[in-house]
Formats: sequence, structure tokens, C-alpha cells
Amino acid sequence: MPSNNESTGEARNRSNRIKLFVVVVFALIAAASGFWGYQRYRASGATLTTAEITELAKTAASEDRQAWLRLARAALTAENVQAIIAPTEPTNNRGEASRVELGYLLFFDPILSGDKTTSCASCHHPDYGMADGLKKGIGAGGHGYGLQRAGTGRELQRNTPSLFNVAYNPILFWDGRAGTLEEQALEPIFNEHELNQSSAAELVKSLRAIPKYRELFAKAFGFNSPQDGREITLQNIARAIAAFERKLNITETDYDQFVKGKDDKLTTEQLRGLVVFIGQGQCAACHIPPHFHDGVLSSTGTPVSAEKGAPLDSDPGFGAVIRREDGFGMFKTPGLRNVARTAPYMHNGAFNTLEEVVDFYNDGGGRGRGLDVYSQDVKVAKLNLTEQQKKDLVSFMKSLNDTAPPPQTPASVPSGLPVVGK
Ligand code: HEC
Ligand code: HEC
Repeated sequence: MPSNNESTGEARNRSNRIKLFVVVVFALIAAASGFWGYQRYRASGATLTTAEITELAKTAASEDRQAWLRLARAALTAENVQAIIAPTEPTNNRGEASRVELGYLLFFDPILSGDKTTSCASCHHPDYGMADGLKKGIGAGGHGYGLQRAGTGRELQRNTPSLFNVAYNPILFWDGRAGTLEEQALEPIFNEHELNQSSAAELVKSLRAIPKYRELFAKAFGFNSPQDGREITLQNIARAIAAFERKLNITETDYDQFVKGKDDKLTTEQLRGLVVFIGQGQCAACHIPPHFHDGVLSSTGTPVSAEKGAPLDSDPGFGAVIRREDGFGMFKTPGLRNVARTAPYMHNGAFNTLEEVVDFYNDGGGRGRGLDVYSQDVKVAKLNLTEQQKKDLVSFMKSLNDTAPPPQTPASVPSGLPVVGK
């Protein structure tokens, strides 16, 4: 039992600590608001409206590089050029190297699948920009990876999205039905059309039977616990895979170098394309740099294929998730980093090339092509771009290609099963 004196002393100490804490917090708030104030000021000083950018673009001669450099820099807002920070991790899944390494091996290991032939990499492969290059994914019964899976199995409902930068998009799946990577990771394992694993108990048992996995799970989750496989749980499988996915980030592209001040990283064509992207094309209204998405879902009126006159795609998208008509045809805005390497495009793989995508937007999306689209976003409207502007836009999107090498396919995985692409 402390004496009275001691407790008042302690109380005084605590009150001093609280005072100090208040002062520090206050100072931080003051510094932060000054900083934001500055950012706002910068933004208001530098931001041109879409209409202004469009007007200025008309006055610049197409080969006047200096004019396009000035305009491109002025068009980028403070938000557009903010530094990219590491993605947020949930408090119960910090991305320790041991978890990332385990997740990496699980990602490539067909042991997760029902028939032990399919891994996540069968559809999300480094050789195809962490996607598969197919119009729609090929699931159960498929063999090989990427384009080689064509014609061998059951076609999935949607195009396989690239997993690059997936941690930066708060919305998962084309229709937004999953919220976190941890939540998402188990879905394909038990989905009968994907890895088709029918028994969680079997899966856990088969992993526990492999000494290397017992060791890796103990290291990643057990904090020096015995390597008896107790850490091998569904939740930890999901955590490890998610930790690996959070490292698949593209932050070094020519565009990023340009943003950091290197003028020569973008060609004149790409500078003009950047101006169209932010200005007349209105692309940046949804594909907002630096991540090139807006974290929401919207309807562009995507048809079943690129041919003019093709009917509207019948996938209800978000509409089926919320069970409301006004969500019909709404899909998440994909980020565009590495987009030149992840054809075909859209939730249904309707477009084979970026040129086809640009043509679609230029026509005014689905409605512009005469389709009866329930709730097409108003930002998708006829653009009246010239042939050169369309080319420039495609050229700009190529500046978003990763300049770092993609992840290596592991030579082998702990199960000893063959690894796709090796
Ligand atoms: C048979 C092909 C196939 C396999 C195997 C597969 N996926 Fe996918 N993946 C897809 C398709 C198709 C989608 C889009 C589905 C949708 O949006 O409805 C998708 C979506 C995702 C997404 C959401 C991405 C985004 O941008 O919204 C993540 C994350 C993902 N998969 C991770 C995995 C993991 C982890 C595995 C292994 C456990 C895996 N996938 C196995 C085809 C596959
Ligand atoms: C209203 C918001 C919005 C605007 C404006 C917009 N997009 Fe999109 N973009 C989307 C959505 C939503 C999708 C996915 C549509 C789907 O899957 O059917 C998409 C898909 C894409 C894709 C395919 C990416 C992939 O991985 O499949 C590209 C490329 C693209 N947009 C480029 C552009 C360009 C270039 C512009 C300007 C001309 C533009 N977008 C304007 C919302 C928008």
C-alpha cells in the first residue's frame, strides 16, 4: 500500500506528464495544420481547372516541348504529386519479413488447391503482370499459367485483375465485395471455380505434414514456439498471403521520376498525353494520381466487346452486392500502374488494347455508343479527342510501367509440387 505522500508525488508526476503530452500534441497539431495550410495554398496556387487546361493545350504547338512541360507540371495538383507511402497494415498483421516470405511461398504452392495443381500464380503470374493475360480467368480443370491456360478449363465470370498495387485500393474484387486482403485471400482457395479446396481441415493437415511449413509458420507467427504446426491455421494462411500481397507495389515508373523532378523521363508525346489525361480526357477525375484510382466504384457502361454496336455487358457488378438497381454495372476503378502490361481490360476483358479503351471513352462510354446504361457516371462523356491526342494518351499510360523487376518465381516450394512457370 503506497503512502499518501508517494501517491500525491505520483499524481504530480502524472499530471506533469499529461501537461507535457498536451503540449506535444498541441505542437503537432499546429505543425500539421500549418503543413496542410501550405498544401492547400500550393494546391490553390497551382491547380488549373479542366477547362483551363483544355484551353491552354489548344495554344501550345504540338512539338513545343517546353510549353508541354510547363503545362504538364501546372496541371498536376498537390494531391497528384504527393509521395507514395507504404500501404497501411492491420494491427494484427504487420508485414514482418518472415510472414512475407511464407506468403510468397504459399502464393506459388499448388498445395493450397483441391487437386494440387493450381496456385494463386496460375492466374496471377509475374510473367503476365501478376494477372494472366486472358480475357477471363480459367479456373477448375485448367492447366498451366497465364495464356497457356486458355482452352483447358472452365472460364470464370471475370477478367483476372493484376495484383500489383492491390494494397492501395480500398476496394477488392471488381464488384467491391471484399474489404481486406486477409478477408479476400481465403476466397479463391475455397472457390470451386478457382483453387477448389473443399476441406479446410484437409488443407491445414496437409500443410502440417510438411516440416518446412511447420518451421516457417512458427517463425512467422509463433515467436519461438515449438514447430508442431499449431500456428498453421486458416487465419494465418490468409495473413501470410496478405502480407506478401502488400509488398507487390509499383512505385518506380518514368512517371514517378518525372514527378520527382526529372523532366527528361517523359517524351513530348507523353507530356501531351498527361495533359489530356488530366484535362480534356477527364481521366484523372477517377484515375487520380498517384494511385490512379479513386477508391470507389462507378459505371462506365462497358459493352461485351470492343466492336461498335456490341451490347452492354450483363454483369450486375456492385448492383448484385448491394441488391439495388442503381448499382447495376458499377465496378471498381482499377489503378493504372503497369496497365500497358495487363491487357485485356475491364472487368470482362472486353478491350484488347489501350487504343480500344481510349476509343471507348472518347465515344462517351456505353451511353455514347447508344447503349441503355442505367447509371453511367457523368464524368464519362464524349471527349472529341483528335487522333493525336488519343495516341498521346496511350503513350502516357505506358509511362506508368514498372521500372523495377517483377517478383521472381521460386525455383521450388515446400510441398515439392511443381511450380507454374518453372
Ligand atoms: C483461376 C484463376 C484464379 C486463381 C487461381 C486465383 N485468382 Fe485471384 N482473382 C481471379 C479473378 C478472375 C479475380 C476477379 C474476381 C472478381 O472480381 O469477381 C481475382 C481477384 C483477386 C483479388 C482482388 C484483386 C482486386 O484488384 O480486386 C485478389 C487480392 C486475388 N484475386 C488474390 C488471389 C490469391 C491470394 C489467390 C490464391 C489463394 C488467387 N487470387 C487465386 C482469378 C484467380
Ligand atoms: C467515372 C470514372 C472514370 C473515368 C472518368 C475514367 N475511368 Fe477508366 N475506369 C473506370 C472504371 C470504373 C473502370 C472499370 C470498368 C469496368 O470494369 O467495366 C475503368 C477502367 C479503365 C481501364 C482498364 C484498366 C484495367 O486494368 O482493366 C483503363 C485503361 C482506363 N479505365 C483508362 C481510362 C482513361 C484513359 C480515361 C480517360 C479517357 C478514363 N479511364 C476515365 C472509371 C473511370
